[in-house]
Amino acid sequence: MKLSAIIGHRGLASLAPENTLASITLAHQHQIEWIEADASILGDDTVVLCHDDTLNRCSNGQGPLLTINKDDLIKLDAGSWFSEEFAAEPMPTLAQALTLLSGFNMGLNLELKAQAGVAPCKTVSLIRPLIRKFWKSNKPLLISSFDHDMLRIYRQQDKQQAIGPLYEQIDDHWHSTLVELNAISLHCDWLHLTPAQAQSIKAAGYQLVVYTCNDPESAQQLRAMGVDSIISDSPHLLGKL
Ligand code: G3P
Ligand code: MG
Repeated sequence: MKLSAIIGHRGLASLAPENTLASITLAHQHQIEWIEADASILGDDTVVLCHDDTLNRCSNGQGPLLTINKDDLIKLDAGSWFSEEFAAEPMPTLAQALTLLSGFNMGLNLELKAQAGVAPCKTVSLIRPLIRKFWKSNKPLLISSFDHDMLRIYRQQDKQQAIGPLYEQIDDHWHSTLVELNAISLHCDWLHLTPAQAQSIKAAGYQLVVYTCNDPESAQQLRAMGVDSIISDSPHLLGKL
């Protein structure tokens, strides 16, 4: 499975409120073929797109995500914090996002967030059936997480799913982790990636994904280092990579 050279971070996060259907739609309108999005859980086990484990930063709500349920999403405005143009933009359920992305025939890098008060096995058991039911795109869906134990659980339950672990800084045992997960890719912060690490990861046969690079010149340098895929808030400005 070949990843896209450019992946929109949280949709098209520089032009629309992150992790919303508006952000996905704008990415599609800018011919971005893949996006990354973050999955988190509400109090009634509804899976939504949200980066944080609280409502505070990206909506007009307050407090932990776990204090609200699906019915509360109607009252929530996840757009005004970004711009009045997006007033009343809802926080989408994962089911809604998977349906929209499938309609656009886009690819998805879904990041599973570790969340205080939610066991990793519960996150996996909630998300896997949603993917099976709602993912109809011809392009792939790639699961990633900073929580490698969560990815181990995912792999135990699903031998086929494409998986790529996330790193802030790549550790010394990255290779054994990728082998154990039967991963296809390694995802890391581009600011910490060294040319030697990039070379080793590519030599081991993995695709290399970096986040979150918004500068076209740096993106070209990363590609020259062997990076396969760049996650960006401004994917529409990176040009042809
Ligand atoms: O998946 C890449 C990137 O999104 C990881 O960091 O904090 O933006 O979710 P974060
Ligand atoms: Mg993310």
